[in-house]
Amino acid sequence: MDTVTILFHLLLLSLISSSLQLCDLSRAQVMEEMFKDFMVKFNKSYQDTEEQAWRFQIFKENMKEASRLQAQELGTAKYGVTKFSDLTDKEFSRFHLNPGLMQGLPSIKEANWNHGASLYHQEFCDWRKRGVVSKVKDQGYCRSCWAFAAASNIESLWGIMGYPKNVSVQELIDCSKCADCNGGYSWDAFLTVLNQSGLMSEEDYPYKGKKNKLCPKKAKHPEAWIHDFAMLDKDETYMASWVASKGPITVTIQLPPLKHYQDGVVRNRECSPNAAHVVLIVGFSGKRIPYWILKNSWGRDWGEKGYLRLYRGSNTCDITRYPVTAIVEKNPKHINYPCPY
Ligand SMILES: *[C@@H]1O[C@H](CO)[C@@H](O)[C@H](O)[C@H]1NC(C)=O
Ligand SMILES: *[C@@H]1O[C@H](CO)[C@@H](O)[C@H](O)[C@H]1NC(C)=O
Ligand SMILES: *[C@@H]1O[C@H](CO)[C@@H](O)[C@H](O)[C@H]1NC(C)=O
Repeated sequence: MDTVTILFHLLLLSLISSSLQLCDLSRAQVMEEMFKDFMVKFNKSYQDTEEQAWRFQIFKENMKEASRLQAQELGTAKYGVTKFSDLTDKEFSRFHLNPGLMQGLPSIKEANWNHGASLYHQEFCDWRKRGVVSKVKDQGYCRSCWAFAAASNIESLWGIMGYPKNVSVQELIDCSKCADCNGGYSWDAFLTVLNQSGLMSEEDYPYKGKKNKLCPKKAKHPEAWIHDFAMLDKDETYMASWVASKGPITVTIQLPPLKHYQDGVVRNRECSPNAAHVVLIVGFSGKRIPYWILKNSWGRDWGEKGYLRLYRGSNTCDITRYPVTAIVEKNPKHINYPCPY
């Protein structure tokens, strides 16, 4: 446990029993210490003492909110100090989508060809253990989770075939007809990849975190491409079989309390219907507490090294709403390794 965590536990204790003597530290002092540690841990600096005082106010509000969430958590998730702890909810909204946008889902085809026949069931699966999931990226101040999840989906499918990739998320943002830094859809990202006949590499077309006016012509030497994309059955058992048999898939969830999430399995009543987020399922477990392993795009200094776990089995945060995946056809000679666990 680092100091910030210890202090947060002290704070929780102090909330439970305000008569508790915390080594002579008052609650206000604990808060101040926590904020100082937070600034060091996440390398925060503010323009002047006025801004710092304002950020400290927000920090205190966020800590109150985190302990409220902690009190009603039914899984194993821990809430507390995160790199977002000095942001207002409005500022934080740059990191997820406006769900108003999510209503216009076109009728995209279902994965109704013979894929179902080759699916198998597994109790655990974690594609990271095969080293086929690319590094967690950071979307920055741009609502581009849809593009990062789609890119990660493509990267993982190529990784499973033995060709690890980093594809250009910026190309997706620049070339999408209906998306930008204010949001988008993973299916639209796949349409864009099909229309571009593939994507350049991240190295050749690096991420800028804002939409450029120009979309480049089709790449002469695309880094990776896809053959199709498909909407999967809205069923958690089916989705798990697909992930185990074929690879990671993108999902759109109602935002759980991720602003304050540190680690553990989230099972919380408060998934916001007013906020949506697109992430990649890279695995799952059926243990005592069943969960999905989700790859996020908020950097490695958030959550479980950039990942979160979400309770599986009761359609938590409406995770079955839009399960979509790219389809990359494998060389028939390719050996199918099962998902490791
Ligand atoms: C910390 O932040 C400052 C300015 O905000 C930056 O110049 C510096 O590189 C950062 N250091 C680390 C380790 O991120
Ligand atoms: C992808 O990018 C990461 C750095 O973010 C790098 O470590 C890795 O080697 C790259 N992988 C490929 C296949 O280019
Ligand atoms: C497909 O790409 C062409 C250019 O190669 C572009 O003119 C067209 O608008 C794109 N269509 C879609 C639906 O993205």
